[in-house]
Parts: sequence; C-alpha cells; structure tokens
Amino acid sequence: MSRQSRKEVLDVLVAGLARQEYRGYDSAGLVVDGDKSGEVYYFKEVGKVAGLRKKIDGSSVDVEKTLMEQVSIAHTRWATHGPPSERNCHPVRSDANSEFIIVHNGIVTNGGDLRFVLEKRGYRFETETDTEAVAILTKYIFDQYQEKPTFTELVKAVLKELEGSFAFVFKSFHYPNEVVTARRGSPLLIGVKTDKKLKVDFVDVEFAGQDSTETRVEPPPSSLLAVPSATPKVLRTQSRAFMSEDGLPQPIEFFVASDAAAIIEHTKRVLYLEDDDIAHIAQGELHIHRLRRKEQGSLSPQQLAATRTIETLEIELAAIMKGKFDTFMQKEIYEQPESVVNTMRGRVNFDEYRITLGGLRTYLPIMRRGRRIVFIACGTSYHSCIATRAIFEELTEIPVGVELASDFLDRKTPIFRDDICIFVSQSGETADTILALRYCNERGALSVGVVNTVGSTISRETQCGVHINAGPEVGVASTKAYTSQYVALLMIALQLSEDRISFTERRRQIIDGLHALPGQIKNILGLDAGFQQLASTVGDNKSLLLMGRGYQYATCLEGALKIKEISYMHSEGILAGELKHGPLALVDENMPVIIIMTQDSLYPKVQSAFAQITARKAQPVVLCNEGDEAIPAGAKTIRVPKTVDCLQGLLNIIPLQLLSYHLAVRNGYDVDFPRNLAKSVTTE
Ligand code: F6R
Repeated sequence: MSRQSRKEVLDVLVAGLARQEYRGYDSAGLVVDGDKSGEVYYFKEVGKVAGLRKKIDGSSVDVEKTLMEQVSIAHTRWATHGPPSERNCHPVRSDANSEFIIVHNGIVTNGGDLRFVLEKRGYRFETETDTEAVAILTKYIFDQYQEKPTFTELVKAVLKELEGSFAFVFKSFHYPNEVVTARRGSPLLIGVKTDKKLKVDFVDVEFAGQDSTETRVEPPPSSLLAVPSATPKVLRTQSRAFMSEDGLPQPIEFFVASDAAAIIEHTKRVLYLEDDDIAHIAQGELHIHRLRRKEQGSLSPQQLAATRTIETLEIELAAIMKGKFDTFMQKEIYEQPESVVNTMRGRVNFDEYRITLGGLRTYLPIMRRGRRIVFIACGTSYHSCIATRAIFEELTEIPVGVELASDFLDRKTPIFRDDICIFVSQSGETADTILALRYCNERGALSVGVVNTVGSTISRETQCGVHINAGPEVGVASTKAYTSQYVALLMIALQLSEDRISFTERRRQIIDGLHALPGQIKNILGLDAGFQQLASTVGDNKSLLLMGRGYQYATCLEGALKIKEISYMHSEGILAGELKHGPLALVDENMPVIIIMTQDSLYPKVQSAFAQITARKAQPVVLCNEGDEAIPAGAKTIRVPKTVDCLQGLLNIIPLQLLSYHLAVRNGYDVDFPRNLAKSVTTE
C-alpha cells in the first residue's frame, strides 16, 4: 500500500487477525512502524483479538499519521513453548532495539539448543518461546557478516540452522520496508493486489545453491499475517509477474498470511508458497527463492516447479462472516442443506444417474485396479471415513481400511504401490495427515485428497482428488465439512462402481437419496427447538452415551466428539454390538443414553440393544425414523426422515450437532473457540 494512515494499517492487521483467530486464540500481537526511522510500536494482549483492538483504541499512538512505506506484522498465538502471556506473545524481537522482529507458526525443535548456545554467548532472552531463539540467531548471524548481506541471504543463513517446522515473517530496521517470509511445514500464502490485469500469472523461482537442514513438520496452529507495502514502483521483478498487460508500472500491495480468510477482503489473487520457499518483498517487487534440499528426490513436483502460480480464489467475504447467526458453528450447521448441494454441484447428474468427478477422471482405472483402499484422516474427518467405509466396500468390492493418521504413522504401516490412499481433511493442513500423505507418496501408492481448502498442502501434494466445496469452515467444531466429506466419499464410491451393471439399482437408489437429502436436512433443522429442549433435559449430567451400530456407529462417534469438544461433557460413542463386552456396565437409571434406531438391516439388533439397556433401567432417548411405530410408547424420541441406509447418517448427525451446540450455549461456553482446541492442528 502506498501512503496510508497508521490507522488504516492497524485496521487491516486487526481485521485479518480476527479472521484467522480460529487457528489459535490464546494471545494476539502486532508491530507497526513508529514515527522515526527504526522506531516501532508493539501492541500485545492475552486472549482474543477483540482485546488487542481495545488496547490499540485506548493507546496514545498517533493513528492518523501517514506512513509512506511500511512493514507491519501481526500474529495470533496458540502456545507451544511458554504459556500464553503478553511476554510470550508475538511479534518477538531480537533485542531491545528491535533489530529483527519475527512472527512464527511452528515449532523449532532445536530452539532449546540454540537458546543454550546464544545465552552462552551473552544474549539475553525475554520470552520462553522457541521463536525468540530464531530472532536472536538472526541478529547473531547478521553481526558475523563483514559486509551487509541482502535480507534474503541473511534469512537463508538462519533457516539453515533450524530444525523443525515453521512459517516466518521477518522484519528488520536494517532493511526498512522489506519483508522476508518463509515456510517449512506450515501454510503460507501471499496475496497480490493490483487494479490491473497481470501479464503473467506466475512468479519465477530462483533456486539457491545452498543446502538446507532436514525437514520435519510440526507447526502450531497459530496464524501470522504481514502487511508490507511500498510506494508504487516500476515493477521490474525478475519474473515479470507483475507487469500489467499494457506494460505500465502499477501500484501493487502484498499481503502475507497463513490463511486466505485473512486477506480475502483485499484480494483474491493468491500465490501459495511451498516448503523451503523464501519470499522477499520490497519496493513493490516479489522474489521467490528456494533452499536446495539435500534429499531432492523426496520433493513434491510443486516444490520442484520453477514457478509459483498466482491463483484466483473463489471464496466470497460473506462466506466467512457470521451473518444473522450467533456463532460460526451455528451458521455452518444451518448451511448444510446448501453445502451438500455445493459438494454435488456439477458432479451428480440426477437424471442420468451419473457421477462425474473431474479431479479423478484419469485415475479411475488405477483406482479400480487397486489392491486395497486406505482412508487416512483425523477427528471428524476420520469419522466421515468410518461412515462411508461399508458403502465403499459394497460398491467397489475392494477391501477398505480406515486409519487415524497419527496411529498409521506410529505403526509405520506397510504401504505398497498398488494401494489407493485417500486422505480426508477439511483444512488440508493437518500435520499428521500431511506426514502420512508424504509417507504414502514415498512408497509409490496412489494418493487421493478429499479436502475442503483449495490450495492447501494436502490438496497440492495428493496426486488427484475431490474438493468437497463446503465453503470456509470457521467454527472449530467441524459440522458442514463432515456432511460434505461424507457426500464426497459416497460420490467417489458411486463413480468407481459405474462399470458394474449389477450395482445399477443400488446406485439409482443412492442417487435418488442424495437428491432428497438437502430438503430432508432442512426439515430436521426446523426441529431445533426440540433439540434445545433435549439439551436442558440431559445438560446437567456428567456423561452421555451414544449407541448404534452399522452405519450409525460413525454417527455415534461423531456426535460424541461434538458434545465433548464444545460442551466439555464426557460423551462416548459405543458400538451397540460391543455393549455386552464391557460398556453395559456403565448403564443404570442415572446414565443418559441416546440410542440410534433408524430403520436399516441392523434394526432388529439395535432393538435388542435397546432391550438390554432398558432392562438395566436406562431411559434412552431414541433417535429413530418418522412414522416408526415399533418404538415403545413412552420412549423419548428424536424423529428424522428416512433415507437410504448408507445416507441415513447424514441426517442422523444433524440433531446431534444441534444438541452439542445447545449444551455448550446453555453452559455459556464459547462455541466457536472451545478451550484447548484449534481449527487446524498443524502440529504432530
Ligand atoms: C472436530 C474437528 C477435528 C478435525 C481434525 C482433522 O470437530 O474439527 O477433529 O476434524 O482435527 O482436521 P482436518 O479435517 O482439517 O484434517
């Protein structure tokens, strides 16, 4: 940005932080340039971004001051080293003169060693963070140079010393109006704002002849944001990326962020950095450099590419605002009739009973020949895999394994070239899932992504895949992503089975079911008052058991996860077939139970589970189909429309999402920001 008031800069930073707050929200901070050269103002606050805003509003800093060129950086933190406190809040400086200032996502695993060495050399630390070791190391290395290095050279030298994972933004008074940003393992993107059409939609990458350190991925889920700006200049980048079509100089602004949500109101033109990319922004120019890795062979094609493409995002600002809803979670629950349509849009032909998943087209023959399918995911995404495993096996007749990414890696699970590994992730940035993906890629398996976030690491590093198109999910508790993942996985199974005549009828039944789905979800949402009432009935208990089997086991697991993560009530999803093997001991007249008894082939077996628990004096709430007259009179019921067996879980989860929501609201908990959790779990 050229010529802007400090207030404008602060507004951009604070609004951007607020949009990324779901990534980490235990403290927030920022730094802006001061009135004199080399002077900076820090603002830091423990807690949410709103607190930081208040602090800025109450400060005596001259916000009307016009800044010609400036670099400001900001961060929301999710503590990994050192508890949340103003002291540990980012931006972190190298010394009292703030020679180098950085914000950081990730964990520098040799931060302790670096601190030890630097302290021995007389450097004093003022925080407990691993980040400070990097800031001080930067100053230390800078001081070793006889001749001042370029900012990029300096940062390269610093990165060479680091182990672990990171996304950094560096600012320095030695390099006024310049910013260097780099990533290894943590997401990072650069927004490019210009009024003119760009002549070339890419930036060349300069490969440096320098070795980097080994790479591990374990960043924390906090977010960072930088707004470097410069007066408009003739855009002479080595890449020519920013020449306008008419070749004239053009004003340009760059926004560095870990998430597109932070910058979407300024620009939709975005360039995603790859691991070991180092971007230097100064005077309206952007240059991307790479550290050469020792193990070049394990680099993804994206990392090895000689250019980084500038993509145009398709999300709208409205999609990341709460609108008429009290919380993002509530909004996202209510969006589901629409979000499942978006998942199917252009892919399901309801008249011809055909599925077309463009992202898989050329890979379908390989997938059909696969020896086995392995779903790999975490949390809610894992549950969507459990929910669709049976229909996948039925339609593809290929054995399907479902793996929690962390456990899959812990076991060093054998993976072969003829395995089809499907990675399911809302964010596309979950560290365990990314590591599992790289593990499978290295072993030559076909990797398929089922991801919500376009441009995310998983969507880029899988060989093919399907975007679930649920739209941005901001609430930490995943809701609409679950139903869209479920639908996307079903569509994959349907597409894979297209060459089997024997499944024609079954496929038609499911596709008809998908057609009716949005309306049925809408009907269930209309029953919300009843779920609120149910929350007040069960809300004072310590625990809540959810029981079911077959397709509904996943619903129980996911319902229980929703309840515990936002209402902090203990809840457990129990496979009804396992009742007699232990969990039945928990059941008595005081234990609240929800039993899922929707009508499918296992209905008689669930009836028997119902009989077992009522014989132990439990008074279960029965989640059942509308019009089911076999449910004993007097039983409390949640009634949902009936659909095809493999789709029923898509309906049954809605009352449980709403129940968890009301349980949390009833207790006054912050639904969108449950304690101890963050939206993107980018640490192992
Ligand atoms: C629960 C929840 C988490 C995520 C899990 C995986 O509501 O949101 O369990 O599902 O952290 O995240 P993604 O899908 O982004 O890989």
